[in-house]
Amino acid sequence: MDFPPFVMDHMGTRLLIGIIAGLHVLINHPLAVGIYPLICVMEYIGIRKNWRELDQLAYKITFVVFIITTTVGALTGVGIWLVTSLAAPFAIGSLLRVFFWGWFAEWLVFISEVVLIMIYFLTWKRWQEGPKKWLHLKFGIALSIMSWFTMALIVAILAFMMDSGGWTEKRTFLSAFFNPVYLPQLAFRTTYAFMAAGFFALFCAYFFTKHGTRLREWIISFCCRWALFSTLACAIAGCLYLAFIPQAMKENTGVALLTMQFVQWQGKFTVLLIVTGLSFAVLGFWGFLEPKRFPRWAMIVPLFLSVWLLGHFERVREFIRKPFIISNYMYSNGIRKDEVAMLQYEGMLKHATYVKTSEITEANMVSAGKDVFTISCSRCHTTDGLNGVIGKFSTMYGPGEWDAAAMTAFLGTMHVSRPYMPPFPGSDKEAAALVAYIQSLRVDRQPLAGAQAAGVDVNPLHAVSAELPLRLNGVTTTKN
Ligand code: HEC
Repeated sequence: MDFPPFVMDHMGTRLLIGIIAGLHVLINHPLAVGIYPLICVMEYIGIRKNWRELDQLAYKITFVVFIITTTVGALTGVGIWLVTSLAAPFAIGSLLRVFFWGWFAEWLVFISEVVLIMIYFLTWKRWQEGPKKWLHLKFGIALSIMSWFTMALIVAILAFMMDSGGWTEKRTFLSAFFNPVYLPQLAFRTTYAFMAAGFFALFCAYFFTKHGTRLREWIISFCCRWALFSTLACAIAGCLYLAFIPQAMKENTGVALLTMQFVQWQGKFTVLLIVTGLSFAVLGFWGFLEPKRFPRWAMIVPLFLSVWLLGHFERVREFIRKPFIISNYMYSNGIRKDEVAMLQYEGMLKHATYVKTSEITEANMVSAGKDVFTISCSRCHTTDGLNGVIGKFSTMYGPGEWDAAAMTAFLGTMHVSRPYMPPFPGSDKEAAALVAYIQSLRVDRQPLAGAQAAGVDVNPLHAVSAELPLRLNGVTTTKN
């Protein structure tokens, strides 16, 4: 409530975050965390066997990785912080305070990673012989370690958002960092990254090697062995991760697949997950044992399956955290769990900085309701776009007029009856104003404009302090 609200009333900011962050993770895991160790092993074998073609292949894969990670990868990485800071500045602000040193270290590690990528890629052709080649490989190993560290630091924050663990009492950096979900999630992401890297290298080898050559057979067998072991490890880490996800979140998975219409699909998705995992194992064995007869399509398809898999996991992880943005501490709308009772008692508008008014009258019901909606609902719902509140109420109450009393009752119990939504964080009067606003939207679907388009209103109650005399060192002065 302390930041001007940024609103995208058609698609919602959630989808924008999902697209940017999803793209970033899909690049980061296979193409940064998983692939460098794999490339280093290829380079090492190339040196040991004095196999120039293998070294060349490793270089070509690095080239693709270099181009993608330094363009789309880097841009989406920065993009995540930009878009999350716009959509949920309250959460980013809290996370920065809790994880200050982690974030600081992340910055250093990330810079080292970028420098190492530059060195590793750009010196490949020049450092081909003798000690220089070994030095080159050492840079590759350092790069592999740094790439993993960047992920290891960020995963602590992602896991903390899912389960803040003992931090709510201890409030220390270490209790936040080593939250219960951290290590299982890190194990899962690490093994996933290795698995997907194996499939990515296989995908590249389809284009960079010729059918029927020794190199093609070798790379198929190598990638399949790599992917097979990491698939098994990923399955084990996945079970461990699942075991550490708090029960309240697991209960959300039904709705997490897409929307409520998909609740009954949950079983089918589980089957799909198992089938995907099994097909990875079968392809892994096949390529490992019979690289000569390994079909060409099988070099391409697994990469796409692994993209589906990660997209699904990220979507579910983001969803099941609801209603919280930081588990057990802050709801998705930025309201802290421990301030809800106070806001319900005193009213939220009084405490919000960027609202038109904090006094609700008959005349300003709709405009005050709009502010209430922006604060308490707009982080998850649009008015009439994606996950639009008009659509939701139409489904519940039909196309005709909606009963105000029923809607007010819904607001009073929304968290209890649908635990993925936070409790309504305002007074009875504010609930009535919100109902008036939503009812006005039903008739006249005015899109909600965010501060970026409509500018800001400062709460008159807060603005008054600007006119009060200022006390500096005990001396009272007037401001102008
Ligand atoms: C944490 C995010 C979040 C917040 C905040 C939130 N909602 Fe929801 N709401 C959801 C989700 C997710 C659904 C389910 C959407 C689906 O599956 O179609 C939902 C569903 C609904 C439904 C339909 C319920 C049903 O059973 O059909 C209504 C009505 C609704 N929300 C109103 C509101 C109102 C009004 C507010 C603000 C006071 C609000 N929501 C705040 C996430 C949220």
